Amino acid sequence: MVELNRDVVIVGAGAAGLTAANELKKAGLSVAVLEARDRVGGRLHTDVIDGAMLEIGGQWVSPDQQALIDTVAELGLETFSRYRDGDSVYVGPDGVAQRFTGEMFPVSAETERVIADITDRLDAMVAEIDPDRPWAHERAAEWDHVTWDAWLRAQTDDDEAVRNLAFATGSAMLTKPTHTFSLLQSLLMAASAGSYSHLVDADFILDKRVVGGLQQVPLLLAERLGEDVFLNQAVRTLEWGDSGVTAIADGMTVRARFAILALAPNLYPRISFVPALPRLQHQMHQHISMGFVIKVHAVYDRPFWREQGLSGTAFSPYEITHEAYDNTNHGDERGTLVGFVSDQRADDVFRLSAEERREAILESLSHYYGPEAKNPVVYYESDWGSEEWTRGAYAASFDMGGLHRYGADAREAVGPISFACSDLAGAGYQHVDGAIRMGRLVASQILDGARA
Ligand code: FDA
Repeated sequence: MVELNRDVVIVGAGAAGLTAANELKKAGLSVAVLEARDRVGGRLHTDVIDGAMLEIGGQWVSPDQQALIDTVAELGLETFSRYRDGDSVYVGPDGVAQRFTGEMFPVSAETERVIADITDRLDAMVAEIDPDRPWAHERAAEWDHVTWDAWLRAQTDDDEAVRNLAFATGSAMLTKPTHTFSLLQSLLMAASAGSYSHLVDADFILDKRVVGGLQQVPLLLAERLGEDVFLNQAVRTLEWGDSGVTAIADGMTVRARFAILALAPNLYPRISFVPALPRLQHQMHQHISMGFVIKVHAVYDRPFWREQGLSGTAFSPYEITHEAYDNTNHGDERGTLVGFVSDQRADDVFRLSAEERREAILESLSHYYGPEAKNPVVYYESDWGSEEWTRGAYAASFDMGGLHRYGADAREAVGPISFACSDLAGAGYQHVDGAIRMGRLVASQILDGARA
């Protein structure tokens, strides 16, 4: 058993933990990062599957994500834009694929008016929300007590409008059924990206990718830490008290003045705390759960949809694959589509055999792009639900009423233990940008405490 003494022990080598570790080390503190997996990056994972480079986890960078943009630039990484020339496709309730350009789906004039009107209302509400303190809004309790679905249905009887408005924060972001999270949670999601309109604008929210893959961010951050990063070290027990912490992992023990838990909050209960965490944390952590989405990658010998004048961007609240995009790698002759299957639909397709699931998902893609979509040369499903050290995708959020009840407490340190994760962020919430912001924030708080 290896025993180490450090100023700070960081549990988790995702973007949050590695950012915090780098900030602390730069300031002269000694660190050890303990990572359960045999790789760094957490929910950032770029891999080669059957000869195709795939972004198994997070990949897109949007123009408001300054912390991520700065980190990417500082690490010397290059970005490229998502392919977006040509028409997008929408499949409506009649199952017919229709082409469109711009942000508004090709719905009836009346449905378009309803969507535009409610979008304006949402933008006005979001403008009043501070993403770092959504619970502080004077109507926070009221907005946290109504589900996203119920609020939308109270605004209009137009089912197609509701489905299209719902999915921007539902299937596409929180990846939970829209009756399981609140209007306030939805407003936070939108506020974290600047506005509700930003979320529905694929050209904004899914703007750029990193050449060679976004996992290079954690890989390069870890490289700077050298031998201070320890893989295959799941922290099982964390002893804590006034004099500091002792993190006990599978093969090593680290004593430190401070600990940073840089893991998804749904996994905190996997660690045995000695003594037990306070009552508030025991309760609160039971009200945070992971969403669930399958990211589907289909690689073809060429980007055949471009020949039909299609951008690859496709949406339908009626399809199993509710959104899909051209995800061709930089400089790659082959064409890649990425599609997403969310929440209950993801549960449903996982009840099928692998072959039936593939067939159902490719059938859905063919509704957007035609029959050629059914024959990829590489097909892969990112299934984060089966990953022990994540347990879902994209991220964790509070259940009904939880954000107002506990939000203000979620980031509060407990003695020498701090919490940093994208799932606790304000700006950049549930995104890599938020992970980096949280890593920086917690490092600066520890530095203030360490210097005091
Ligand atoms: P993260 O979960 O990455 O890291 C936590 C680490 O802690 C993990 O490495 C884990 O193994 C480790 N760990 C857990 N328990 C431990 C224990 N007991 N002991 C030791 N280690 C432990 N974002 C974005 O900005 N753009 C995008 O396009 C996408 N798309 C996307 C797609 C998919 C499929 C996913 C799953 C996610 C995204 N995201 C995204 C979200 C983004 O990837 C995510 O918000 C951040 O990578 C989270 O970084 P963190 O460091 O906060 O947690």
